[in-house]
Amino acid sequence: MSKSVIKAALLGLGTVGSGVYKVIRNQKNEMMQKLGSELVISKILVRNIEKASKKVDDPSILTTSWEDIINDESIEIVIEVMGGIDPARTYIKEALLAGKHVVSANKDLIAVHGEELYNAAEQTKVDFLFEASVAGGIPIIGPLKQSLAGNYITEVMGIVNGTTNFILTKMSKENMEFKEALALATELGYAEADPTADIEGLDAGRKVAILASTAFNSRVVFSNVYTEGITKISAKDIRYAKEMGCEIKLLGVARNTETGIEAYVCPMLIPANHPLASVNDSYNAVFVHGDAVEDAMFFGRGAGELPTASAVVGDVFEIARNINADSCGRIGCTCYKQLPIKKMEDTTNSYFIRMKVEDRCGVLAELTAVFAKYGVSVSQIIQKGTREEGCAEVVVITARVCEGDIQASMNELKTHDAFLKTSSMIRVYRK
Ligand code: NAP
Ligand code: HSE
Repeated sequence: MSKSVIKAALLGLGTVGSGVYKVIRNQKNEMMQKLGSELVISKILVRNIEKASKKVDDPSILTTSWEDIINDESIEIVIEVMGGIDPARTYIKEALLAGKHVVSANKDLIAVHGEELYNAAEQTKVDFLFEASVAGGIPIIGPLKQSLAGNYITEVMGIVNGTTNFILTKMSKENMEFKEALALATELGYAEADPTADIEGLDAGRKVAILASTAFNSRVVFSNVYTEGITKISAKDIRYAKEMGCEIKLLGVARNTETGIEAYVCPMLIPANHPLASVNDSYNAVFVHGDAVEDAMFFGRGAGELPTASAVVGDVFEIARNINADSCGRIGCTCYKQLPIKKMEDTTNSYFIRMKVEDRCGVLAELTAVFAKYGVSVSQIIQKGTREEGCAEVVVITARVCEGDIQASMNELKTHDAFLKTSSMIRVYRK
């Protein structure tokens, strides 16, 4: 039997909160058909009622008191879109333990405290959903947990940060340097006032932790994910990458290998014919490999008011359906394994290395001899003269090699007189 009204509370009325309010309002006439119930936002937690009043039809639903929400038994769903760790963590936990279902978009929180929140949801058999926490409007958590449940997933990777993808696209298509592209991203509102979490790969790292935990059924937290940002990438690296048939993208990679989970975020060369290479501007895309489905790619808007709200409201609808079918708590935490997580130095990749060396006979042979000592095989090489006399620029792409071995070979190279400088070292994505 469907309830005539299901009440929800919003925590936060910023970018995503306002979007959620609008999407639910836009769906008003469709709800009865879709849910069999009317979904009503009956309270909204804000910090400043006057500021928030302009954003809602009925300002009497605004409150600055969490107690007004947690103590209201008619509210069945809490939608957390405030962000940050505390008080969001406390509010979500209290709501779950009080038997309220929770939807959250908060990757910072879930990537660190996801297990604790799932445990709270388990105690009261309520739903805890967070589709919007990874890749905004793109459905990926739900598909991994449900549509792809029949797979043993070995890889989930992709472009999960729109700001950095916008910057790298400008660097690639318009030959901009990093600082110029970042300034443009800031001017257009893609980059936040403090862009550190985006450009240093931290935002993507949190999403990789959530993706890996969900895809591999084993808990991966943010501190398990190696992160490296795009601040050192230059337009010259991108030009060389193109000469070698690749683009450079900030990739979040999670692999389920026989020796453990690999989870990292770093700029990577990716072959121009890979579908992710043509994901440009602020778009996101997630690529999944499963034993049954083989390859599947999910593409769309990874952020923004309405795209993110789309994912949040999808979760709210799922909960409303569960309430009406009396099937809440159906899919809880799916991390039933405890797989080891590999250190970055134990991962294997190909490497693009741009270096300056003395421009004299025999230097390339010395270089490759050092590589050979550590089992590093060269797949591609470009050598060009530079404006500096007696100096050449050599760019190599290695075959797949252990990170520890490539680092050791580079450390040894640095001791050679003919070796002048490593200009850049970027991993290369290979299947
Ligand atoms: P936002 O624009 O800064 O909005 C957050 C809102 O929450 C603000 O209005 C803020 O109030 C309010 N708030 C914060 N702490 C509060 C508290 N203790 N009590 C009451 N209200 C409080 O942030 P957002 O972009 O909407 O992001 C919200 C969440 O969604 C974050 O977890 C973010 O990571 C996630 N997310 C965002 C996007 C996106 O595209 N923006 C995409 C995916 C996921 P004040 O205005 O007074 O500060
Ligand atoms: N700052 C993020 C991005 C959006 O640029 O993709 C929120 O996850």
